[in-house]
Amino acid sequence: MSSHLQNDLLIRAAKQQPVERTPVWMMRQAGRYLPEYQAVREKSDFLTMCKTPELAAEVTIQPVDIVGVDAAIIFSDILTIPEAMGLSLEFVKGSGPVFDNPVRNIDDVESLGKNILPELEYVGKAIEQTVSQLNGRVPVIGFSGAPWTLATYMIEGGSSIDYKVAKKLLYSQPDLLKRLIDALIPEIIEYLDMQIEAGADIVQVFDSWGGVLAPAEFEEFALKPMTLIVEGLKTRNPDTPVIVFSKGARTHLPSLADTGADVVSLDWMVDLGWAREQVQDKVALQGNLDPAILLTDPTIIEEETKNLLSSYGDGFGHIANLGHGITPDVPVENAKAFVQAVKDFGIKEVNC
Ligand code: CP3
Repeated sequence: MSSHLQNDLLIRAAKQQPVERTPVWMMRQAGRYLPEYQAVREKSDFLTMCKTPELAAEVTIQPVDIVGVDAAIIFSDILTIPEAMGLSLEFVKGSGPVFDNPVRNIDDVESLGKNILPELEYVGKAIEQTVSQLNGRVPVIGFSGAPWTLATYMIEGGSSIDYKVAKKLLYSQPDLLKRLIDALIPEIIEYLDMQIEAGADIVQVFDSWGGVLAPAEFEEFALKPMTLIVEGLKTRNPDTPVIVFSKGARTHLPSLADTGADVVSLDWMVDLGWAREQVQDKVALQGNLDPAILLTDPTIIEEETKNLLSSYGDGFGHIANLGHGITPDVPVENAKAFVQAVKDFGIKEVNC
């Protein structure tokens, strides 16, 4: 029980326990759509912000104060793990993250750093500061990238549209990809465990590019590693809920519900009610408003949010969120309208 929390709606919904109201937060909620974020960002580059606990805590809390979300996700990035393993990470304006020494052969995999927790101490410190400043107002979400998604960046050397380099390697040298993934799994478990130790109340594993894999490869390179990660976390922290997000993986929803995770986070391309049937209430569901709806206006957002809430139906176990990250061009009033609509129309009847 997360007894230090004044608002533990997210934790209870993740465990499918009764809630007075559906909780709401937004992926990428600490970000460029907020002028207050931009003001901090103007003075420091993105990685410096991640690595300076005071700054990370400040921008982590901004959406709680400004938009009114029910959780704070720690300000960081999924690419901190590859960086800590020895890849030099740079965020290049206009083209996103770049690794100039990508992983392409067995020597590259072998030379990756192991037991990287000391390199990532700054994330633990940022969580500690955030927890202490929030003083129990809302839960703190820790996160990591999943092995396949991290592998795509490590192999491609940055973002990709078609993942051709990573996929060519997958099909021509599956053992090499397997070694890379096997190297990532224990680091991810340790990293999330450290975040929980530092005070994260719940963790999310982002497999943002899981959906680009063919079914057999999804099973081998996304699902199996995800299951091992959840198992590793649950052995050590049985009470801390785990959320898995695999974008584009709608045909794999029953398998994702069998990973042992508490929550499956959905992209916007599935109907929430249909997804609930697929997972048979084995897990809670998070999502899944199309982030593009936040580009419209408060009236449309309210209507769409009402539809979203009613498509889940009765019972507990829904966490309102977007189907992917909020984009930098969203007006702040629209983000607020989404959160407010969940607060107004997500009231539940709790029978004691
Ligand atoms: O959700 C949050 O508010 C917490 C912070 C967070 C960031 N990145 C901050 C960020 C989280 C959870 C992430 C995860 C992340 N990072 C993912 C998985 C989530 C997803 O969207 O599927 C991925 C794929 C990344 C990798 C990454 N980081 C890319 C491709 C980029 C560049 C994208 C862009 O729009 O420029 C980043 C940079 C990044 N991560 C920013 C933020 C706020 C923008 C940095 C800036 O201020 O310039």
